[in-house]
Amino acid sequence: MPDDKFSSVTGASSELSDEKLRPHTLESFVGQSEIKKQMHLFLNAAKKRKKTADHILLSGPPGLGKTTMAFIASEEMQVPMRITSGPAVQHPGDLASILSSLEEGEILFIDEIHRLPKVAEEMLYIAMEDFRVDVMVGKGPGAASIPLALPHFTVVGATTREGMLPSPLMTRFGLSLRLDYYKPEELAELVKRSAGILSISITEGACMELARRSRGTPRIANRLLKRVGDWVTVENIKAADEEDVKKALEIYQVDPCGLDRLDIALLSALELQFNGGPVGLKNLAAVLGENAETIESVAEPYLIREGFMARTRKGRVITPKGRRHLSVGRRDLFSD
Ligand SMILES: Nc1ncnc2c1ncn2[C@@H]1O[C@H](COP(=O)(O)OP(=O)(O)O)[C@@H](O)[C@H]1O
Ligand SMILES: [Mg+2]
Repeated sequence: MPDDKFSSVTGASSELSDEKLRPHTLESFVGQSEIKKQMHLFLNAAKKRKKTADHILLSGPPGLGKTTMAFIASEEMQVPMRITSGPAVQHPGDLASILSSLEEGEILFIDEIHRLPKVAEEMLYIAMEDFRVDVMVGKGPGAASIPLALPHFTVVGATTREGMLPSPLMTRFGLSLRLDYYKPEELAELVKRSAGILSISITEGACMELARRSRGTPRIANRLLKRVGDWVTVENIKAADEEDVKKALEIYQVDPCGLDRLDIALLSALELQFNGGPVGLKNLAAVLGENAETIESVAEPYLIREGFMARTRKGRVITPKGRRHLSVGRRDLFSD
């Protein structure tokens, strides 16, 4: 998660509280057609066999729909879901008590699963494989470990850092889905859906303009839509068009390509402090005062995918497109 310093209207730091916007079925989940197909087949097979579904791993940058997909799995399977996260599990005992209280068929959603402590991780993959947890009873020399059988359950793990999961844990997932940034057309559809739910009137062209500025991310698209909704209310507008979107988002300094402040800070540091690179992640992180993990899992994937920067064997470099983007931004800043 980005540091507060960089949080802005496009920042990924605060959860969008609006439950109304969360799709509850695979059908209403916009975009990601391949993933939906796989999920549909997988869940349907389990339902037809009347068996607990195999474990599922969802990976990808923040705000792309991992938590939403976990909720959808629980609704489609019509099973309850228990929610925890890697950082919330401080001691293996915490995990043991969650595991031993699960019901048959229940989903255990573990957000940020890559941040589970090592011992808990080991306990988890035994539980996932053998549906068993070893509980320690007593202390000191008299302590004994007693195996406790668990009901069959489904772990849905979410992670922004798939690469950080140890392979024994990785191999326990029967399905691993990687969510990718959304295309502008998909986000435009999402914005249209959300605008309907929130009763914000907005033209098709405006949906597309908003989509282009949403950094490929549903959470950002929804948040920007709400700010456009504020504009519509305050300015007494019938239906927001492209110009309204531009004007409203200018107030929040949303970049025309959807880059947020961390993205721009990163590109600027590459260009100005490091002469365009190559530079190592650690040095970049130090200059930005940001942790390396955030840079690697939150900012870089989008910048690299969109061709603003690249990762070479020698380090990170800015691309001509990245450089152009910075100079256009600066011209805008210093004109009139
Ligand atoms: N494919 C989608 N279709 C519609 N809305 C979505 C989709 N993916 C995400 N959202 C919306 O974006 C918000 C962020 O999604 P979330 O599942 O919390 O992301 P993640 O867990 O990957 O950070 C949710 O509130 C949800 O309303
Ligand atoms: Mg989430």
